[in-house]
Amino acid sequence: MQLNARIALVTGAGSGIGQAIAVTLAEQGAKVIVTDMSAELAAQTAKLIQDQHGVAFSYGMNVCEPEQIAHVREQLLAQNMAPNVLVNNAGWSTSQAFLKNTPELWDKLIDINLMGVIRVTRAFLEPMVQSEKGGSVVNVSSDAGRVGSSGESVYAAAKGGVIALTKSLARELTRYKINVNCVCPGPTETQLLRANPENYVEALLKAIPMRRFADPKDIAQAVAYFASEPASYVTGQIMSVSGGLTMAG
Ligand SMILES: NC(=O)c1ccc[n+]([C@@H]2O[C@H](COP(=O)([O-])OP(=O)(O)OC[C@H]3O[C@@H](n4cnc5c(N)ncnc54)[C@H](O)[C@@H]3O)[C@@H](O)[C@H]2O)c1
Repeated sequence: MQLNARIALVTGAGSGIGQAIAVTLAEQGAKVIVTDMSAELAAQTAKLIQDQHGVAFSYGMNVCEPEQIAHVREQLLAQNMAPNVLVNNAGWSTSQAFLKNTPELWDKLIDINLMGVIRVTRAFLEPMVQSEKGGSVVNVSSDAGRVGSSGESVYAAAKGGVIALTKSLARELTRYKINVNCVCPGPTETQLLRANPENYVEALLKAIPMRRFADPKDIAQAVAYFASEPASYVTGQIMSVSGGLTMAG
């Protein structure tokens, strides 16, 4: 299997795309550290993997809480389980006109979607570098960060930040044999998508050339590729998985 030697930590893996990523990486042979702000949801995903004879451990970890991140890092290092694959998937959005946004909403969107990625990467990159064995960072951004999204201006700004972070880290980390890439899901069938107004969701569907929303598994396969040995010469790349909705150059 492609990911046999990998220990992969996935954030926001209690449901939706993150859960599909955790399950897919485990199916391909990785040991998976399932994390989510909900320890209960994380444990459910880990059980799903264990029931399929995969190897998974779960932790409650909110990407906005530095102490929780440090706690998970300490636990893993103590067990010789430093991840060599990091998937920054946790994210959140809500649809609202920019002129109606409050500063509190801006802060929340940037804290989860951009600072969360920065915090978690800082915490787990260090042991990855120190291991001198290389590794992969895969960030889950959004097509909102590439082409914009009406009603999601600040979310899109944060996701655009994740894309810029990906490219800069990719340049900085080649010397440690760590590649850094980014998957941009288009509209994907999860609770995050369904939290939008129904007419908005219908309009989105009509705009997708393939006329279906992504299945979380579609996104997970792209993440698994970036985490695998065949992608070891690929870094700083941004891949949209969107049924043809976006074809960014
Ligand atoms: N669903 C889509 O259409 C879509 C499109 C583009 C990008 N994305 C991105 O894909 C990623 C996953 O989205 P999804 O649709 O699976 O969402 P989801 O809401 O279905 O699942 C997100 C998971 O992340 C967890 N989470 C939320 N905030 C967290 C935090 N602060 N710390 C740790 N965990 C947290 C939640 O508990 C949940 O289990 C996000 O980064 C999202 O922005 C989703």
